Amino acid sequence: MCKEKHAGRNLDYALCFLLTVLYEKKLLNVKKKSLNCLSTTCLFNIGYSKNNKKQEIDIIFISLQEEKDKCFSKITQNYKPLMNKIVEKYAELPKPIRRPLWRLWHNMITSFDKQKVTLFMNYGYASNNGEFMNLKLKPEDEADRYSIQLYDHVAGSNHLKDKDILEVGCGRGGGASFLARYYKPKSFIGLDISKKTTDFCNNHHQAEGLKFIKGHAEELPFEDSSIDAVVNVESARVYGNIPKFFEEVYRVLKPDGKFLFADMIKPKDIESINKQLEEAGFKFLKKENIRENVVKALKLDTEYRKERIHEGAPKFLHKSFYQFAGVEGSERFDAFDNNRIDYWSYTLIK
Ligand SMILES: C[S@@+](CC[C@H](N)C(=O)[O-])C[C@H]1O[C@@H](n2cnc3c(N)ncnc32)[C@H](O)[C@@H]1O
Repeated sequence: MCKEKHAGRNLDYALCFLLTVLYEKKLLNVKKKSLNCLSTTCLFNIGYSKNNKKQEIDIIFISLQEEKDKCFSKITQNYKPLMNKIVEKYAELPKPIRRPLWRLWHNMITSFDKQKVTLFMNYGYASNNGEFMNLKLKPEDEADRYSIQLYDHVAGSNHLKDKDILEVGCGRGGGASFLARYYKPKSFIGLDISKKTTDFCNNHHQAEGLKFIKGHAEELPFEDSSIDAVVNVESARVYGNIPKFFEEVYRVLKPDGKFLFADMIKPKDIESINKQLEEAGFKFLKKENIRENVVKALKLDTEYRKERIHEGAPKFLHKSFYQFAGVEGSERFDAFDNNRIDYWSYTLIK
């Protein structure tokens, strides 16, 4: 039954597998009313329907009591490479798929990171010209040096002291904590769409004026002209409406406020991103392609990233996490190394 029902729908199989594992490990919550039958012997069937031009995904539970073992082992044996493809290509998947996948990854990281060592989720920055000779880090921060250097490159030279700073998409809060501890702003608010993430940050990070809140990039919960600088590192590319995010940043910034923005961007998209920034009202103070610095950081950090993945994640997910972490040898690394994706860093002013 399983085979016939899903024949030719490899992506469905791979998603079924991922969602089933997460459900069985209690990393995924599903509303009871959407279930035809509730038990851990259920598989998810992802159905795509086109409705008023908007692609929607329905997660429907189907009961496959007897077929489950057969089906499940087929999926696990044959579709691991597809799992990796999904992770590797997730930025290119349709938005309705990207968002739930993104949340799942975050739930997984929170759940696997028992030692609470994952404080950053970016690709890092390594200098080609001795840029960070004077960046003396505390011993406890050294392990995250390349991710910290990315934050320092993006925001460090912007006179944050005694200012009101907002970071959108703060993730596990390592960057917010670094900037708050080393540059002493008056206040630093880290905002993220995931409550699990901001709860983790509020429990884990302590610094004067630092706090974390749940919020949405496209609807920032702040008054007009109330913030001195907005930081945004490796987050915007997954937002549903990037121009709306840029407008929101412009709205909340004080006159002459700075937008300190960095993300990976495909060469074909760069013109439209620049246009959207201009249309939001920003003037460009700096615009730099830092792809080579990111590639260098990934090379230097590969062993450490792999060690952490081996410590935290179950073996069957190692390859998927390699893609996510961009370690040398992964498709993501290759895309950076061979100029298929660039990494841009901006300083913009209102
Ligand atoms: C790749 S992580 C980067 C985290 C952090 N900036 C860093 O460099 O470690 C991207 C973060 O953006 C958050 N995010 C995604 N969509 C968001 C949205 N619409 N509003 C706010 N945060 C969002 C995710 O939850 C995630 O924590």
